[in-house]
Amino acid sequence: MENNTTANRRIRIFDTTLRDGEQAPGASLYPEEKIRIARQLALMGIDTIEPGFPISSPGDFQAVQQISRELQGVEICGFARAVKADIDAAVKATQDAASRRIHMFLSSSDIHLDFQLRKSRQQVVEMARAMVGYAKQFVDRIEFSPMDATRTGDEFLFEVLEAVIAEGATILNIPDTVGYALPEEYGAMFRRVRQSVRGGDTVEYSAHCHNDLGLAVANSLAAIAAGVTHVEVTVNGVGERAGNCSLEELVMAIETRKHSMGVETGIVTSEIFNTSKMVSRIMGFPIAYNKPIVGRNAFQHEAGIHQDGLLKNRNTYEIMDPEKLGIPRSMIILGKHSGRHALKHRVGQFGIELTGEELDSLYTRFKEKADEQKMVTDDQLMELVGSTVDGQME
Ligand code: KIV
Ligand code: ZN
Repeated sequence: MENNTTANRRIRIFDTTLRDGEQAPGASLYPEEKIRIARQLALMGIDTIEPGFPISSPGDFQAVQQISRELQGVEICGFARAVKADIDAAVKATQDAASRRIHMFLSSSDIHLDFQLRKSRQQVVEMARAMVGYAKQFVDRIEFSPMDATRTGDEFLFEVLEAVIAEGATILNIPDTVGYALPEEYGAMFRRVRQSVRGGDTVEYSAHCHNDLGLAVANSLAAIAAGVTHVEVTVNGVGERAGNCSLEELVMAIETRKHSMGVETGIVTSEIFNTSKMVSRIMGFPIAYNKPIVGRNAFQHEAGIHQDGLLKNRNTYEIMDPEKLGIPRSMIILGKHSGRHALKHRVGQFGIELTGEELDSLYTRFKEKADEQKMVTDDQLMELVGSTVDGQME
């Protein structure tokens, strides 16, 4: 790792697991469940929590209200469409928060204007202007999201953004709502906005990426490189369709190269695994075995060459220390790809010392067993040891 003498730029992590993440089909949460998850998010060092959509149901209103009252060390975000009733509900639900923002969204792409909003561009600019002005009477920090921004032409996008800045929006979140952008496109869009939008140098910028092409983390990193200081994420990447930018992947991409990137987050990485497990359990969403960072296989090694290297020095095949993520230890999986060194190591972990001859004989029998089935468990290994090496088990 390079050494860095200047201070890193702080990237603020905005968690929307309880709002956008909850929009994943089947992921709906009860208020008590949201409160438990929000406590864990706060413990993990999240900067801003978006706990729900207050107008959407009495339960969501209550969850946002209770989280605002209880979690005084975290900024709470009230989510709203650009309509007065939504803004009123978001303002009311978050009024006891120690610090808060209102996050207002309104579509900007032609396809959304024509088929969803059924409004003209002029009407959209007027709505955005009027509703940001309305919300600004109650809350100072106003985040504005032009929905489907990455499929909106620059000219109209800039017009909307200039209008909301003039009314007092303080954070511009420019979402890739349908997960369409490529990293270089998404980064370039932020650069153009920062350079060309009137007042664009007076506000903060936020990225919000969906994962339809598997690029949500890459796009968020490109946005950071383009100067964004807030990134919107969800735990385990849950969210609409293919989900949102995954918190754990983004944070660890930064963590593993924070000196060379010159940025850092305030996330307590040792809470990442607990948080991931909790969200998966409560939402009833299993985590894919091969999911980066938190998947079952993320720190397991089966190939003999890898196991051998790992036993000599973990850095040969691991770029992160699983213990720093709250994951108990990296595991060597014994299967047909495992070598003698790994077998000897695992048997040694059970306090069993084998002679070279005994190890040869165990290795042959182990390979036969591994060919019959995909993995050899510790119990099966001990049976093999017992039947191979008389007296060693006592
Ligand atoms: O994906 C999206 O556009 C959103 C916004 C409303 C921010 O979730
Ligand atoms: Zn979204």
